[in-house]
Amino acid sequence: MSEVKMLASSPMLLLLLSLLMAFFFDTTAGQIGVCFGQMGDNLPKPPEVVAMFKKYNISRMRMYGNNTEALEALRGSNIEFILDVPNPYLKRFADSPAEAKAWVQDYVQKYNGDVIFKYISVGNEVKPGEQGDVLFQAMQNIEKAISEAGLRNIKVSTTTYMGAFTETYPPSNGRFNATFLNFLQPVIRFLAEKQSPLLVNIYTYFGYIDNSTNITLDFALFKPSKDEFKDNNNQLDYKNLFDANLDSVYAALDKLGGGSLEVVVSESGWPAQGGEEASEGNAGTYINNLIQHVKKGSPRRPDKAIETYIFAMFDENLKPNEDPFERYFGLFNATTRDPKYSVTFN
Ligand SMILES: *[C@@H]1O[C@H](CO)[C@@H](O)[C@H](O)[C@H]1NC(C)=O
Ligand SMILES: *[C@@H]1O[C@H](CO)[C@@H](O)[C@H](O)[C@H]1NC(C)=O
Ligand SMILES: *[C@@H]1O[C@H](CO)[C@@H](O)[C@H](O)[C@H]1NC(C)=O
Ligand SMILES: *[C@@H]1O[C@H](CO)[C@@H](O)[C@H](O)[C@H]1NC(C)=O
Ligand SMILES: *[C@@H]1O[C@H](CO)[C@@H](O)[C@H](O)[C@H]1NC(C)=O
Ligand SMILES: *[C@@H]1O[C@H](CO)[C@@H](O)[C@H](O)[C@H]1NC(C)=O
Repeated sequence: MSEVKMLASSPMLLLLLSLLMAFFFDTTAGQIGVCFGQMGDNLPKPPEVVAMFKKYNISRMRMYGNNTEALEALRGSNIEFILDVPNPYLKRFADSPAEAKAWVQDYVQKYNGDVIFKYISVGNEVKPGEQGDVLFQAMQNIEKAISEAGLRNIKVSTTTYMGAFTETYPPSNGRFNATFLNFLQPVIRFLAEKQSPLLVNIYTYFGYIDNSTNITLDFALFKPSKDEFKDNNNQLDYKNLFDANLDSVYAALDKLGGGSLEVVVSESGWPAQGGEEASEGNAGTYINNLIQHVKKGSPRRPDKAIETYIFAMFDENLKPNEDPFERYFGLFNATTRDPKYSVTFN
């Protein structure tokens, strides 16, 4: 008792302790995750994939559904983990708290302790319409199941994307598209109340190809460019499209009273083939610059590392092929298991 008191009253020790904690939080926040998408028929089995995560020091993973083989492989791995509730299950879990509870028992509670669940993402890029209409209820039922199971350190959220936002130029003008806001407004309130982050997929690749007449490739790749600008509403300087996109999300949240929310970048990447400016060279440049960049914050949140997940571990040859580049976001060649280009993760 007296020892504890002495420790707590020693200013030097307190200082050391807080420095140590700041260091701890900074380094983990800057660590990179990778999304393990599985829409391919040539992918290594989950145990080998987990071994690759360890080999390359990738300390976080996002996975898009309740794959039991992968959950088993993650046991004891120390990899922090985002598990998605796939969009097709949203209606079922919104309609039935019992089914939501069973899913949490079978795929979260059963592994908790051996697998470090960080977030459950209820849905990915949910659109207005049938799935948007049931999203909030599904999130509430999953959250209730998580909390009843005593798993309160696991945050329940959802993943949205830049398509849900409008007027993102300059970033301070950013707001939610009204059609998305209809179903996301209660979600934002819920996240603020639970102090859970909003997950957002941010691809400067799409921003660039949709607007390549007005945006340079360099601006999308974190290179010095003529597109760097000052946001005249708040005097913040933007040196790349990633920060501009991220801060337009923060501006949109601020306008809804969600200014306290943290944004986690739940996907970001660049294709190595199949589209305009899709090449291994550009992908390698983007990914390596991204990893360095997110160790710092964006202009609106300058002192905070940006928790970021790279899309994706492998190319996925079973993805829909309307945009051929969709299949070529992989960091690693699924056949040789070698990186397509050199990357240092953590
Ligand atoms: C992984 O991290 C360890 C220790 O931090 C380091 O020795 C090793 O070189 C890293 N491996 C890779 C592939 O970066
Ligand atoms: C995932 O969960 C759903 C809903 O509970 C279930 O129907 C499905 O069989 C599960 N998938 C796997 C691979 O276990
Ligand atoms: C908002 O989203 C809807 C549905 O995706 C879309 O049709 C509409 O064009 C968007 N509006 C704006 C202003 O971006
Ligand atoms: C590019 O800029 C021009 C001139 O400001 C504008 O008319 C055009 O709509 C912009 N293109 C896109 C895709 O936003
Ligand atoms: C395209 O980029 C310019 C900035 O160079 C921006 O003013 C415009 O709003 C962008 N268009 C779209 C559709 O995002
Ligand atoms: C992966 O490696 C195999 C074997 O070397 C090669 O044939 C294939 O083209 C590579 N795939 C990609 C996408 O680079």
